Amino acid sequence: MTGERTEVVVIGGGAIGLSIAFELAGRGRRVTLLERGEPGAEASAVAAGMLAPTSESEGNAASLLNFQLDSLCRYPEFTAAVSELSGLGCGYRSEGTLWVARHRDDELELEHLAALQRERGLTSRMVTAREARRLEPYVVPRAVGGLLVDGDHQIDPRRLLPALALAVEHRGVDLRRRTRVSGVFPEAGGVRIAYDTPGESGELRADIAVIAAGVWSEDGIDTPAPPLGLRPVKGQLLRLRGEPIIQRVVRTPDVYLVPRSDGELIVGASEEEQGFDAQPTAGAVFDLLRDAWEVLPGIYDLHLDEISVGFRPAVRDHLPVIGPAGAPGVFLATGHYRNGILLAPATAYWLAEAIEGGETPPLLAQLQASRLAGAG
Ligand code: GLY
Repeated sequence: MTGERTEVVVIGGGAIGLSIAFELAGRGRRVTLLERGEPGAEASAVAAGMLAPTSESEGNAASLLNFQLDSLCRYPEFTAAVSELSGLGCGYRSEGTLWVARHRDDELELEHLAALQRERGLTSRMVTAREARRLEPYVVPRAVGGLLVDGDHQIDPRRLLPALALAVEHRGVDLRRRTRVSGVFPEAGGVRIAYDTPGESGELRADIAVIAAGVWSEDGIDTPAPPLGLRPVKGQLLRLRGEPIIQRVVRTPDVYLVPRSDGELIVGASEEEQGFDAQPTAGAVFDLLRDAWEVLPGIYDLHLDEISVGFRPAVRDHLPVIGPAGAPGVFLATGHYRNGILLAPATAYWLAEAIEGGETPPLLAQLQASRLAGAG
């Protein structure tokens, strides 16, 4: 059986897979994207969409920070291209983040974070309680200070993902829903991809296959890639709604609150090692509401629209895996953990460079699957 033939098959229709398809189609490649469910329906639809490498720099390897900063720079152009092709907005905002110290312990933690950011050449500044409340008047009156990060931005994943799905189709990508890949097999002259859809099984042949299916990148897919040891890190977050009470992202060391222009307020997020348990829990909801109320008491009157649960794809060092899978024609782009939305444009751009240039770009050097030898 020869099957259909295309140039590139991307497996996975989340933020990463769609962005890769968008980039490669933009470079003139014929791309087919296979998504097991609906595009953008899993982790990408749950993500808060903070584009915040400075705020999230603590504990991150320098290789990740440089990659995050590169991706943040790509965002305006990326979303402009997606919006132009799709005719849809992506909810891009650049108001920054205000960290709030609720008490002296928080303040010490923020001073430590600010020092770390300075050491890494990142810009932030401590603010007084009065300035914090001038910036965000609904912040709790007993706040003792804050840390302002003007360089953080945000995107609304529930606007970005539908726009991206439409934009890839406008670029000619053959986007196939409810198509579950069972195997990726290198063979002479390319790669054979076996898939199942409701009611039929099929095969596609391509020059290149990119496995970008988040935490499902190793799930039921026979691939030549080494075991990555991908695991789901469960995140629960809340979607509140009402009159906007903050302009920028407000955080404490325990919680983040992300405002949308339509009155939605995201409160996130738990981090749990619970496998694929998709049930919301009373404990996580309680913790999120308490932590959010402590910094922004006005949330009390908002409506609770949704409790969202998603699975961050993580490998043991919490860095993404982007590059060759160890067999000709097969590439990986997964393991983005807390950074899938932020890293989508850089992942797409640099993976496309690796595919076209045949070499690993320096920014991807620390993100190769080979570092995980023996995982799984
Ligand atoms: N990027 C924030 C989170 O994963 O909760």
